[in-house]
Amino acid sequence: MSQSAPLSFYDEIGGHDVFVRLVHLFYQGVAADEILHPMYPEHDMDGAEERLRMFLEQYWGGPSTYSQQRGHPRLRMRHVAFHVNPEARDRWLGHMRDAMDQLELAPLHDATLWDYLQRAAHSMVNTFEPTPPPAPKETP
Ligand code: HEM
Repeated sequence: MSQSAPLSFYDEIGGHDVFVRLVHLFYQGVAADEILHPMYPEHDMDGAEERLRMFLEQYWGGPSTYSQQRGHPRLRMRHVAFHVNPEARDRWLGHMRDAMDQLELAPLHDATLWDYLQRAAHSMVNTFEPTPPPAPKETP
C-alpha cells in the first residue's frame, strides 16, 4: 500500500511559480521605495530576488536550494549590516502586502503566510534610530 506524503504549504499554494511571482512583485515595490531601495545591491537586484525566493521556498517545504547555496539562513545576523528600523520594517511589509494582494491566495493560505512574514519582519528590526539621510551622490 502506498501512502502519499501530505502536501507542503509550498505545494498547496502553487509551488515555484507562486513564489517567483510573490518575490518579483515584492521587488517591484522595493525598487520604487526611496528608503529600502538604497539598501539593496544596485547591480544585483536579480540575485537579491533569487535569495529571498529560495529562502521562502525552503522555509515552506519546497526545495532546499537556499541552504545548499547560502548555508544556514541566520537571517538576523545577515541583516545586521542594514538599518532595519520600524519604518523600514513597515515599508518592507507594505510591499509584501501589495504583492500578496495580487496573488489572491485562499484566505487561510493568505493568513498563514502573512502571519509568518509579519513575525519575521518584526524580528529583523535591529535599530530604533531614525532612517539616516541618503548618502551624497559621488561627483565625478
Ligand atoms: C524588516 C525589513 C527588512 C529589510 C529592510 C530587509 C533588507 C534586506 C536587504 C537590504 C538584504 C540584502 C539583499 C541581498 O543582497 O540579498 C536582505 C537580504 C535577505 N533578506 Fe531581508 N529585509 C527585511 C526583512 C526580511 C524578512 C522578514 C525576511 C524573511 C522572511 C528576509 C529575508 C531575507 C533573505 C533570505 C535575504 C538574503 C540573505 C542571504 O542569503 O544573503 N528579510 N534583506
